[in-house]
Amino acid sequence: MKYRTIENGLITNEHIGQEVKVIGWVARKRDLGSLTFIDLRDRSGIIQILINEDTPKPEIRNEYVINVTGIVTKKADPNPALKTGHLEIVAREVVLLNKAKNPPLIIADETDALEDVRLKYRYLDLRRPVLQNKLITRAKIAKATRTFLDEAGFIEIETPILTKSTPGGARDYLIPSRLNPGTFYALAQSPQIYKQLLMIGGLEKYYQIAKCFRDEDLRADRQPDFTQIDIETSFMTYEEVLAINEKLLQFIFKEVKGYDLALPLPRITYEEALLKYGSDKPDLRFGLEISDAKSVFTKFDAPFLNEEPYIYAIKVSDNGDFFTRRIVDELNMVAKQHGLNSFANLKYSNDTFSGSLAKFVTKELHQELVETFNLKDNDFLLISFGQNKRQTLTSLGAARLKVAAMLNLVDKNAYSVLWVDSFPLFSYDEERGNYVSEHHPFTMPFEEHISKLKTNPGEILSYAYDIVINGYEVGGGSMRIFDQDLQHQIFNVLGMTEKEIEQKFGFFIEALKYGTPPHGGIAYGLDRLTMILTGTHDIRDVIAFPKNLRGNSLMSGEPNIVSDFQLKELYIKIDKEREEK
Ligand code: AMO
Repeated sequence: MKYRTIENGLITNEHIGQEVKVIGWVARKRDLGSLTFIDLRDRSGIIQILINEDTPKPEIRNEYVINVTGIVTKKADPNPALKTGHLEIVAREVVLLNKAKNPPLIIADETDALEDVRLKYRYLDLRRPVLQNKLITRAKIAKATRTFLDEAGFIEIETPILTKSTPGGARDYLIPSRLNPGTFYALAQSPQIYKQLLMIGGLEKYYQIAKCFRDEDLRADRQPDFTQIDIETSFMTYEEVLAINEKLLQFIFKEVKGYDLALPLPRITYEEALLKYGSDKPDLRFGLEISDAKSVFTKFDAPFLNEEPYIYAIKVSDNGDFFTRRIVDELNMVAKQHGLNSFANLKYSNDTFSGSLAKFVTKELHQELVETFNLKDNDFLLISFGQNKRQTLTSLGAARLKVAAMLNLVDKNAYSVLWVDSFPLFSYDEERGNYVSEHHPFTMPFEEHISKLKTNPGEILSYAYDIVINGYEVGGGSMRIFDQDLQHQIFNVLGMTEKEIEQKFGFFIEALKYGTPPHGGIAYGLDRLTMILTGTHDIRDVIAFPKNLRGNSLMSGEPNIVSDFQLKELYIKIDKEREEK
């Protein structure tokens, strides 16, 4: 005897008059004396069950699992909100298969449950169709990826999760080795070195949907364990690598959303992205471009402003009185969060200026401002100024996003997909007092910049690229160094001693000596791509069992204390004094 002959959501007009057997959870029950109505939910959808008074029925409550046999019938009062809302099953037999405790959250798309309750009872949260649909989309993305890459000659290869701890990147999750007392594995932050070794191993075209682990501060788009679509290929040029990735994205967008992504994708350099949008992951679904405002504001008789080396502005059309004192205060909070004191501002209406800089606007400057910024009535200028170029720009970039959100300038149905490339190879870490890799140490510098390794590493640009969608960094990759001497030099610039290079990367430098092919690749955050394609801003919505912002699982309670016996086996002692502090 089968549990079901059809899934609830698949019942259509063609089944009218037929007997079917369905199964699922009781989503809702209404008792009208002689008649009982039940909404029966399975993954495919909901079907209404009608139980007449003469049909024997067991005790039925929400989330009980029941089996129903009956005839599909047209409903007198259709519910247009449901796909099967015009049909119901008139029950002949109702069997109770399992009872349920009263659930602590409303199991429907709209739920009033607090986040913590949802995470604690994740298995109940997962019964909500909205969440199931996101996981279904995730599976579709993975499938489309596999289909495309398989057809393009890539092979899926797994690489270890227990790996070697190497410097750079995020903090590692360390795993003690019982068999080798006092030593540790690191959970893979990405398959980076392995995929390069696969290229040296002659596999030519590799991909993997890989679990990665990073001990970082968590955010709405960051989890400690997350998933990459990881790709590497030999014997392709920079242009060829970008082109095949564009086709992959186009395929995924079409398969999953039916959306036609126009190719080639726009590209902007890191420098341009920073100057125009104050971000290395700009959202281009709206304008509000930044302009260099130094030449005008340098003429202002305000030392706090005109002595600053960097002054930038964005112009916003304010159809009315949007930029109130409160909004300006809110924007100034953004400046503060980015380490600036505040922004300056000017409002232009009825041919007069108001705002924080208005008292410095002379007659000449009035004219110059109007011309430089092409000001129309009610335009508003938000101005950032500071000593540090990046900081001055990124604070305005953050304000740009806030203004767009507040003014509803973002077209929610549009996708802004672009490459950001020509990243600096290194950035200078003031705290550590040395250079660190902007992407990772295997990134190929522009050939014409290699000579700067000894003189000015900060100026070197690289063949690194990010794919940015709707303001999220969804993927990142690069062409790789395939020359052992160059790789060695890069480690030197990163401040590693010969001994350290040998200890940490000796095996890799050795491998590079055996005829390494030119190669390059990319990794996409599968979670982030799913976020975009399901329209959520919370990475936890696209992961079946996520952690909270402190890295805890509220459902099963990890990370947790382990037994002294386990610790002893691993030669580990907990520093209780430090723990108590
Ligand atoms: P990168 O470190 O840029 O590159 O990571 C690639 C992509 O992975 C996603 N991602 C994350 N998603 C969720 N939570 C996190 N904590 C998290 N960290 C990263 C992002 C990011 O764009 N090996 C290189 C790739 C390469 O060079 O081929 C790498 O890992 O979407």
